[in-house]
Amino acid sequence: MKIAFFDTKPYDREAFTTCKDSEHFNFRFYETKLNEDTLALAEGCKAVCVFVNDTVNAKVIDGLYAMGVRYLALRCAGYNNVDVAHAYQKLHVVHVPAYSPYAVAEFAMGMLLTSIRRIHKAYNRTREFNFSLSGMTGFDLHGKTVGVIGTGRIGRVFMDICRGFSMQVLAYDKFPQEGVGIDYVSLDELFAGSDVISLHCPLTQETQHLIDAAAIEKMKKGVVLLNTSRGALIDAEALVEGLKARKIGAACLDVYEEEADVFFEDFSGHIVNDDVLARLISMPNVLVTSHQAFLTREALENIAETTLSNLRDISKTGRCENELCYRCGNVDNCKNQRCEKCF
Ligand code: NAI
Repeated sequence: MKIAFFDTKPYDREAFTTCKDSEHFNFRFYETKLNEDTLALAEGCKAVCVFVNDTVNAKVIDGLYAMGVRYLALRCAGYNNVDVAHAYQKLHVVHVPAYSPYAVAEFAMGMLLTSIRRIHKAYNRTREFNFSLSGMTGFDLHGKTVGVIGTGRIGRVFMDICRGFSMQVLAYDKFPQEGVGIDYVSLDELFAGSDVISLHCPLTQETQHLIDAAAIEKMKKGVVLLNTSRGALIDAEALVEGLKARKIGAACLDVYEEEADVFFEDFSGHIVNDDVLARLISMPNVLVTSHQAFLTREALENIAETTLSNLRDISKTGRCENELCYRCGNVDNCKNQRCEKCF
């Protein structure tokens, strides 16, 4: 099977070409992102493999289908960039639901500790032989309350890590899980009671701008906000206002609403046009990383292995447990129904 890979970086190419199943596939790697202008690069391929910032809208799906593409493999968990409903009966869409929840959850805790203990500032200071501790006072996590929104794979690992720090854990999920020892509260209770809030739910129409000015208003003064999920969960302009008003004590952002134009690329010699991003980066209590939370050796190996086995399964049997199935109307007998939810 010929696969056109879009938005690839050296680490993607290495993971796929060294994967144990790679000899059964013919890889075509492109650095460019998939969109209406670049879809022609998939000519002659049966499958297309995309990442978080490729655009797979109705036009792209129709264009790919017309040129004979039948499989769309996301080498990530989130699929908010794909019009899954439009792909129904055109492209089989498969994703990698879990490649390493530990990678993301551990990174979220890393960002939290870095931010509240000023480790990034200490690193810069001591490199210049500045051993002053002025302005470096942090706070203990022990005994503080963390609110986790989205208690799926990553959220649950993050909760375990927080419990290891003796934090109180509050959780909110649209689909709460019974009998797993999670203390679910309403979203408003979580906002009001948390010293730290961490987002681990997917981006959907419902969760877009889940954290907006009204939500920020309900939070504790000095709250630390962590987002390692998807940028548009937070209204970035409301976040800037919340930080300026000193309502938000710190923000750790591995994702950003408008990241598609800047993240993963080197703009160090350029003037970035995004004023909101520039304002956030300029603030001493904001830590921005470039959608890096997933990037561990283990995660890359799992992504490559699962993506190739997804494509092998779906092309050979027409079925794959990692297929994203748009609601087919056959909920009682849906072959792809998972977690008691049919998309
Ligand atoms: P998951 O599917 O295991 O868990 C998501 C949870 O969110 C589920 O429990 C679900 O019921 C809940 N949820 C759905 N709609 C909700 C709503 N409206 N309000 C509250 N909760 C809701 O997903 P997983 O693996 O834990 O990943 C979570 C998110 O993390 C992904 O959607 C993805 O956007 C992001 N992610 C970010 C990465 C990074 O490198 N920064 C890497 C991997 C994932």
